[in-house]
Amino acid sequence: MKHLLSLKLVLFCLTIQTSLGQTLLVPPYLQPGNAPTLARESKVLLWQTDSIPGKYQVEFALKTPGSKLASGKITQNALKLKNKTTLLYRASLTGLKFDAEYTYRVLLNGAPLANGTFTTRTKKNETRFVVFGDCGTGSLQQAEIAYQVYQQKPQFVLITGDNVYSYGLENEYRKNFFPAYTSDEISPQKGAPLMKSIPFYMILGNHDIYGAKFEKYPDGLAYFYYSDQPLNGPSSEFVVKPSGDETLIKNFVSNTKPRYPKMSNYSFDHGNVHIACLDANSYANPLDPVLVQWLAQDLQNSKADWKIVTYHQPGFNSSKAHYNDQIMRLLAPVLEELEVDMVLTGHVHNYQRTRPLTFQPKRDESGARYMISEEGRVDGKFTLDESYDGMTNTIPKGIIYIVTGAGGAGLYDPTLSGKPELWVQGTAENWVPFTTKLISDIHSFTLIETAGKKLVLKQMDGKGNVLDNITITK
Ligand SMILES: [Fe+2]
Repeated sequence: MKHLLSLKLVLFCLTIQTSLGQTLLVPPYLQPGNAPTLARESKVLLWQTDSIPGKYQVEFALKTPGSKLASGKITQNALKLKNKTTLLYRASLTGLKFDAEYTYRVLLNGAPLANGTFTTRTKKNETRFVVFGDCGTGSLQQAEIAYQVYQQKPQFVLITGDNVYSYGLENEYRKNFFPAYTSDEISPQKGAPLMKSIPFYMILGNHDIYGAKFEKYPDGLAYFYYSDQPLNGPSSEFVVKPSGDETLIKNFVSNTKPRYPKMSNYSFDHGNVHIACLDANSYANPLDPVLVQWLAQDLQNSKADWKIVTYHQPGFNSSKAHYNDQIMRLLAPVLEELEVDMVLTGHVHNYQRTRPLTFQPKRDESGARYMISEEGRVDGKFTLDESYDGMTNTIPKGIIYIVTGAGGAGLYDPTLSGKPELWVQGTAENWVPFTTKLISDIHSFTLIETAGKKLVLKQMDGKGNVLDNITITK
């Protein structure tokens, strides 16, 4: 028997009531799932309802007419948080072909609830993707960036941390994150249905882990509920650890298994790009041998033309905000050794691009240890490639470090924009003019396109204006 569900928009944001009584708290959205390499392709579809159970099915097929329908395997977690139970559903879409367009639909008791399309990862030597961080505030600027990103038709989006403000809570994702990225209305005021067709890779920023104190934030660390990333990272002990009520911790571990804590660090391939995603929060240790060994193997095994590393807190930053957060500078020699092309970060709410650089952190008198000041500063020896300009000279000597933290949260140091004389300065051991572009008076995102041995990076604002544009070749 065929019956239609009347989907009624109940509240101002996402909440949708089905005719069977469930409230759809988060509509179905796509995630990358545990598909790190180009050996096999899969995706994950997630959605969340109130506690009223339903009989869901997910069907998917190649977009070509007459293609065979396949069913996604659905699992369900009952999240008992803050005396409220909600149901988080997760459907695995496996056995997908690369470079292919698919359609999917979610059915409730046999009737369509939602549908969408997506394109699987490419095996070609080209990519087109978007990067931004520090976004989930529910601001108008977040919606405008979401809208413009949608116009750019990226294959995937990478968020460089501080996915949602202020504490990474389940409730905050529903209020400050999903509305802009799953909006059915496509407009600069509301956003766009990006996540219904484009997978978001995400990492942990400091705001994403502030809710690890379950005694205060029982619905914290929601990154591990809502995102579904590759599980190929190291088994590092330097990961976020929830504290508080034992039952809450037990429930969290059971509801996020096997994603917590595995999704703290991971990597993935898309086309000719390989991206290693790291957790750089205060409990992390960039020189943890387990992490460094994993990273070395991960990057050495990759045959991709472009090797990119991403983490939240930038070591090379000429803004006043977060200037002392320099611990990630310690990883620079490792990244140089592993021939990383570019590092993408956030945390500082503006856009910054360094000259290609290499950095040797200063050691103590014994020569055995790197030195870190009490404030977190890391001195060392900089070597800048001043001849690279991204236009006439496109072959950099060194790594280009990008801060792209202007995705929606309030901007930092707007008066510094385009005024190098105002940028933070220090002793030659701690700061040299490594930053060549700093745009802090407008929200923006990074569009990266690769084609073989050519990479083009454009920084764009919410209206589609290009604020920075460089080419790298090899
Ligand atoms: Fe941050």
